Amino acid sequence: MNDKEVVLSGIRATGNLHLGNYYGALSKFVKMQNDYDCLYFIADLHALTTTPDPNILHENVKNILAEYLAAGINPDNATIFVQSDVPEISEMYLLLNMHVGIGELMRTTSFKDKARKQLGIKSGSEDEDIEKQIIGTDSNKRVNAGLLTYPTLMAVDILIQKAHKVPVGKDQEQHLELTRRFARRFNSFYGVDLFPEPQNFNFGTQSVKVPGLDGSGKMGKSEGNCIYLIDDEKVLRKKVMRAVTDEGPTEPNQPISAPVQNLLTLMELTSAPEIVQQYRDAYADCSIRYGDMKKQLAEDILKVTTPIRERYHDIRNDDAYIARVVRQGAERARERASKTLAEVREIMGIRKFY
Ligand code: ADP
Ligand code: TRP
Repeated sequence: MNDKEVVLSGIRATGNLHLGNYYGALSKFVKMQNDYDCLYFIADLHALTTTPDPNILHENVKNILAEYLAAGINPDNATIFVQSDVPEISEMYLLLNMHVGIGELMRTTSFKDKARKQLGIKSGSEDEDIEKQIIGTDSNKRVNAGLLTYPTLMAVDILIQKAHKVPVGKDQEQHLELTRRFARRFNSFYGVDLFPEPQNFNFGTQSVKVPGLDGSGKMGKSEGNCIYLIDDEKVLRKKVMRAVTDEGPTEPNQPISAPVQNLLTLMELTSAPEIVQQYRDAYADCSIRYGDMKKQLAEDILKVTTPIRERYHDIRNDDAYIARVVRQGAERARERASKTLAEVREIMGIRKFY
């Protein structure tokens, strides 16, 4: 196990998982578990940056644990743990923050988006306006410091396990870039070679971005356009049948409109290549029928999600099993994290007198 490269990834505990999470992250977790030394976790501390209801947070951690297991992550192959069960992460987060600039954190896209939301300002407003409001005096309208240092915490998740590969979707690439920068900075500041520089991982060549079915950009929890892995058949079919399309092609070989391209992108992920080609050809010769295409797509998505949904409910109700998995995962993750933390403390001069 020790000569395998280390893979680490996590998902925030903010709700059930959708097809975007599946193709961007979870399906890669499952595929990688036999070939790498894998650790997968649930980021409950990161979820706190958007101040969830405590009971809902706890339920969400459990949901995602059950989804990891139902999707096929085998706890005998991969370490599955909850972020807050590894207190070494929180200590190293404090230490690494001493090498992170406020400016570089404030320039992160996800920070700007979420800060805008917390302040209730419209997207598209100038960065200068956001900065002014952030340092403004009204303490009822504040951006919490945890949100600003989100990338430090994520970098620590990765660096404390000395991970080489981090399977995540495209939207996380900026955070990974910061992680590499922090790793390089730490290594060079102290003249050590402690942290590897982690890379994203995809089976194809490109990061995936799963689109929503509402004709807009990505599928996402806050976009409200998700197909969940645990949606029952009726709900799932209904969501797909309601997908936005266009009026239909009027001339042969017309460029494909954005909402139809979104359907095709989902098909490319879930359907056989001949089926995707068949609908591309039908668009090109104007014989396409969106109703048929959506029916096909719904069936192909169900082939992926039904086995996961069926296992999910049993696992979700098995408290003893879930507890066993996370206890074992926490032990393994802590063993490794505490070694790295001891090295970091020593390197930074935090040494004991007794
Ligand atoms: P959401 O955007 O729904 O809040 P998260 O931010 O919790 O989802 O993302 C968890 C993981 O799923 C990350 O690795 C992220 O890159 C991936 N992911 C989320 N949405 C998509 C999407 N539409 N396409 C590809 N990957 C996605
Ligand atoms: N920021 C990631 C997301 O929103 C979740 C995350 C936290 C993560 N720590 C991580 C992903 C470490 C990979 C590695 O999806």
